[in-house]
Amino acid sequence: MTTGLLAGKVVLVVGGSTGIGADAARVFAEEGASVMLAARSKDALAALTDELTGAGRDVAHTAGDVSVGADVAGFVDATLARFGRLDGAFNNAGINGQGRLDDVSEDDFDRIMAVNVKGTWLCLREEIRAMRESGGSIVNTSSIGGFRGNTGLGAYQATKHAVIGLTRTAAHDNGPLGIRVNVVAPGPTETPMLTHWRQNDPAAVERRIAAVPLRKAGTTTEVANAAAWLLSDRASQVTGVVLPVDGGLTA
Ligand code: NAI
Repeated sequence: MTTGLLAGKVVLVVGGSTGIGADAARVFAEEGASVMLAARSKDALAALTDELTGAGRDVAHTAGDVSVGADVAGFVDATLARFGRLDGAFNNAGINGQGRLDDVSEDDFDRIMAVNVKGTWLCLREEIRAMRESGGSIVNTSSIGGFRGNTGLGAYQATKHAVIGLTRTAAHDNGPLGIRVNVVAPGPTETPMLTHWRQNDPAAVERRIAAVPLRKAGTTTEVANAAAWLLSDRASQVTGVVLPVDGGLTA
């Protein structure tokens, strides 16, 4: 018999090829879930699927772009075809922004909105359609950038505020259907995204980490553990909540 926090559950991880999403797949599978990975890079998804199935986990993958409605519908369809149902989803795909708002190009603005905001909405739409009869639990990834402004991140903060707004609305709409919708809001977390930010502005990253009460950036596993709890039945009375995983930075 499978044991663990997510034993027997089918969970879709969108943005599951690297960073927080890849580690979330490892944690969810270790906690007993069957996991469908989705992201753009087929090769990275195939490598992670091999790693996890090699360790005896029940994992498959499907590739596509989270900003394209047909692709996101495909993520859910692939999950239903492979595992027969959808109990949970971790909507974690996201891209970073750079620069002052008055320097951001229209193309860059449209792209970050398409991936971070429209992508989250598309995931919610398709996942909720699949959960209407059975209920379920959805976790979206915002950021502590979803609570306040910051310098030099272009429209990123705005997109992460929007993820919280989408989540709260979805929690109200879908509570009566037994679908919970919550947010994890990571602080600085050691992933390729943080490496990229460090390359652009190392002093800003070090200043940010020095301000964290726990005096370190988070790990991907720490964020994944918080998402696993929100996805699990242990959080059965929790919906519409924003859970910072930030070492106390916003306390
Ligand atoms: P990452 O760059 O390692 O991973 C991002 C994931 O999203 C990858 O799987 C990538 O393939 C996927 N993705 C990006 N664009 C996509 C698209 N158009 N279609 C499908 N998949 C797409 O980044 P990281 O750091 O793991 O970020 C994960 C989430 O956590 C993001 O939403 C990010 O905004 C958020 N976050 C990260 C923080 C950090 O310090 N690393 C802090 C706060 C929030």
